[in-house]
Amino acid sequence: MAVLPIRITGDPVLHSPALPVAEFDEELHRLVADMIETMHEAPGVGLAAPQVGVGLRVFVYDWQDGEMRHSGVAINPRLWVSQPTVEALDDEAESEGCLSVPGERFPLRRSQHALLHAFELSGQPYELEASGWLARIFQHEFDHLNGVLYVDRLNEANSKLAVKAVKKRNWGVPGSSWLPGVDLLEGE
Ligand code: NI
Repeated sequence: MAVLPIRITGDPVLHSPALPVAEFDEELHRLVADMIETMHEAPGVGLAAPQVGVGLRVFVYDWQDGEMRHSGVAINPRLWVSQPTVEALDDEAESEGCLSVPGERFPLRRSQHALLHAFELSGQPYELEASGWLARIFQHEFDHLNGVLYVDRLNEANSKLAVKAVKKRNWGVPGSSWLPGVDLLEGE
C-alpha cells in the first residue's frame, strides 16, 4: 500500500467525468487500498479516484459520527437525493472542504438525504441510505466522479472568495498536487 499524491484543482482529471470500472481485479483492489491509506493520512472523510489521478468511478469514505463509524467503498455508484431546503445558509454548520482544494472551506447547501447504490470491491451490489453529514459526503464524492468540485457549486459570494483563494495559491492550473504526510499546507 502507498500514500498517493492528491491532485489539486486545475488538474484536468478533476474536471472530467470518470469512467465506469469494468474489471474488479487486483489492480482495483490495490487502487482502493492506496486510496484508503491516502484518505487516512490526509486526513479526510472521503476520497475519489480522480483525486489521485485515476479517472474511474470509485470513492472511499470513513466518517466517525459520535459512536458510529461509517466507512466503505463505492464502485460505479448511483445517487438519489432529496430536494435541498431553501433557507439561509449556515456558514459554520454547512461549511465543506476538499482535499483537492486543501486548507479552504466554504459553506454549501446539500440535500439532507441521499440513497447510494454502488458495488463493493467483491462486485456485490449494495444500497445505503444516508442523512446529514454522511449524505453530504456521498454528494461531494459522487460529484468528483462527474468532474465537479464543491467549489463549482457555491453561491455567487462564496464562489468569488473561492476563485480568489485558488488564484492566491497559484492553483487552477494542471499539474499541482500535494503528498499527505509530507507536504504541509498553509492553513491546514
Ligand atoms: Ni473533495
